Amino acid sequence: MGSHASDDKIYLLGRDEAETERLNKQHRFLLAISGDELMHPSIPRDQISAVADLGTGTGIWLEDFAQKHPNPSSLDLHGFDISPAQFPTGHEIVVPEKTRIALSVHDALQPYPAEHLGRYDLVHIRLLTAGLKQGDYTVVLKNARDLLKPTGYLQWEEVDTTTFCTNGHPELPAITTMRNTVIDAMLKLNLWPFAPPTVYEEIRTGGFNNVHRETYTTEGKEHLYAIAPKWVTGVMRALVPQSMVVLGQAGSEEEAKGKTEGLIGEFEEHCRRALALASFGVSVGQRGD
Ligand SMILES: C[S@@+](CC[C@H](N)C(=O)[O-])C[C@H]1O[C@@H](n2cnc3c(N)ncnc32)[C@H](O)[C@@H]1O
Repeated sequence: MGSHASDDKIYLLGRDEAETERLNKQHRFLLAISGDELMHPSIPRDQISAVADLGTGTGIWLEDFAQKHPNPSSLDLHGFDISPAQFPTGHEIVVPEKTRIALSVHDALQPYPAEHLGRYDLVHIRLLTAGLKQGDYTVVLKNARDLLKPTGYLQWEEVDTTTFCTNGHPELPAITTMRNTVIDAMLKLNLWPFAPPTVYEEIRTGGFNNVHRETYTTEGKEHLYAIAPKWVTGVMRALVPQSMVVLGQAGSEEEAKGKTEGLIGEFEEHCRRALALASFGVSVGQRGD
């Protein structure tokens, strides 16, 4: 269930074992939807060896980056998160050739320690929406930019929870209900559910060159048709019950979970005939001083 970090920052998702497993599985799905590339094609991968991942969660993106790299021991990799709850034991990940990925607790809204400033070829951010207010995007981006070398790259990826739907018509009311519940709860908590266009606009106007934006969906990717509804139900199980509690639509977590399962059952039945559509936005820019 949703939680508040030690300094009482609002975060709409949980950080328990089930959520850790969901994040790791989700990584595979997001990679598949965006063409199995960790980095946008505009980023010259042979120039990327120092990488910071902000809001790293379990560190799965950095771990995959190291595992796929031809020379992992040459890398300088660091994951930051406001909470260590999903970090592996010892706050580091060890990958082949004894490459160590350091993980630190750090709020992306705060400036980073001096040793990290100007150090990275790439700063990667993915799925911070569940903890950011509208004005926070500018601050996160400014702090992230400070981590980059003068010509380093930033890549920021967000799912658009406001566009969850299927290609079936008319829209299944259960889908409308789940989507609106999440949007309304986020707005009530002062969080900002319209992340991908906001991220793109912040990068475009935030002192970056070579700015690119891609929007990936499941449509046209037949190999994802079976897995897409499973991913959507995972996201909805993670977001809808807490949202119902926030909105006073359920008196307890248990009641909210029960109601959500009813809606998810209808969605799964509907997806026997329709394709679940999700929108995943990737924005990229190069620091230009
Ligand atoms: C949905 S998870 C995504 C994790 C990871 N980026 C991924 O794609 O698998 C969001 C993460 O952002 C972290 N987070 C939320 N607000 C944050 C903040 N202000 N600063 C740093 N991390 C934050 C959460 O603790 C959580 O680990």
